[in-house]
Amino acid sequence: MKPLRLGIVGCGAVTELYHLPAIAASGDVELVALADPATDRATSLGRANGNPRVYADHRELVGVVDVAIVAAPNRLHAPIACDLAAAGVHVLVEKPLARTAAECDVIAAAARSAGVVIAVGHDFRHFPVASVARELFSGGLLGEIQSAELLQSAAGRWPYASAYVYSREESGGGVLIDFGVHMLDLLGWWLGELTARAYADDTVAGVETECELSLETTSGAPVGVQLTRLRPMRDTTIVRCEHATVEIGIFEPAVIRITLPGGGTLAGGVPDTLFDAAPLRTVFGRQLADFARAVRSGGEPLVPVSEGRRVVELVERCYGLRTPLRRAWDWPEAYSGLEETA
Ligand SMILES: NC(=O)c1ccc[n+]([C@@H]2O[C@H](COP(=O)([O-])OP(=O)(O)OC[C@H]3O[C@@H](n4cnc5c(N)ncnc54)[C@H](O)[C@@H]3O)[C@@H](O)[C@H]2O)c1
Repeated sequence: MKPLRLGIVGCGAVTELYHLPAIAASGDVELVALADPATDRATSLGRANGNPRVYADHRELVGVVDVAIVAAPNRLHAPIACDLAAAGVHVLVEKPLARTAAECDVIAAAARSAGVVIAVGHDFRHFPVASVARELFSGGLLGEIQSAELLQSAAGRWPYASAYVYSREESGGGVLIDFGVHMLDLLGWWLGELTARAYADDTVAGVETECELSLETTSGAPVGVQLTRLRPMRDTTIVRCEHATVEIGIFEPAVIRITLPGGGTLAGGVPDTLFDAAPLRTVFGRQLADFARAVRSGGEPLVPVSEGRRVVELVERCYGLRTPLRRAWDWPEAYSGLEETA
């Protein structure tokens, strides 16, 4: 079968580190074009990746590609995806699908009227541990979910090619919409629809670096989430269920730990030699294969627009409930009564 002609819009860090290696290893697609106003950067990435055509404007991909990946700053996801969809190009849009639910709706409408596939880049669903956790929760084996708590740091270094991530206008927000969407997508995939009850973050100006969410499942189980760009955290999700407690770590070490009511604990990873050798490249490869399958079959991708929208809507609701995150130094009353009285 002839490979699909693929173009990438946005030649920054995620394109260089993960999309391009996944494309190079794929038999489903052939890289034919790169689009980025930073044409020097696109040209130099192109030289190392088979010399595709390079354009400054994504609209020049029309007629040149069958499918595209949109990996530009979040503000541009909706307008670029809509331009491409309207021209009959199937699109994999990086997470978050867009900055707001209204922007997601515009993408959904463009995809519907053009009859193209739009997939959303929530690649964490392709982590082996993530799909095993989904099976565990959806099987009913563990009984009712009683509560959940996710503590996750996004404090690693990331070689951004641009500064969009520090601008609320460009990115839609901070750690919540940038990294939190990955985790909220997983929580929704595992536990079902979540409703926002309370939200606090540390925004003073610019975007938040830390936030705390109080969410609820449809059966009323509380779900607490803490995200930070500033410090290490436990980096796992603990879900207390009727018959057992499950702890899931997505990253190194990826682990599922099940504690039974008697206190017995079973812990382990999910055997996957490809993932163990190159975790993120494997995950992006599987995401690309899923996208190509959906395009060829006309079926749904693993993460359709409706699910990308669900996460963005939850994020938007949280931002709408925002209160300031209180830190140790914001609690002067904690010190009252401690004055020296001598
Ligand atoms: N799935 C993941 O795990 C993951 C990881 C990182 C980033 N992302 C997402 O990928 C996107 C890009 O992130 P990044 O870290 O590569 O950012 P980056 O700052 O490294 O790169 C952004 C690139 O977009 C280019 N750009 C700006 N305007 C453009 C336009 N009009 N047309 C085409 N390109 C344009 C910039 O020149 C730059 O090269 C973001 O939406 C981000 O949320 C996803």
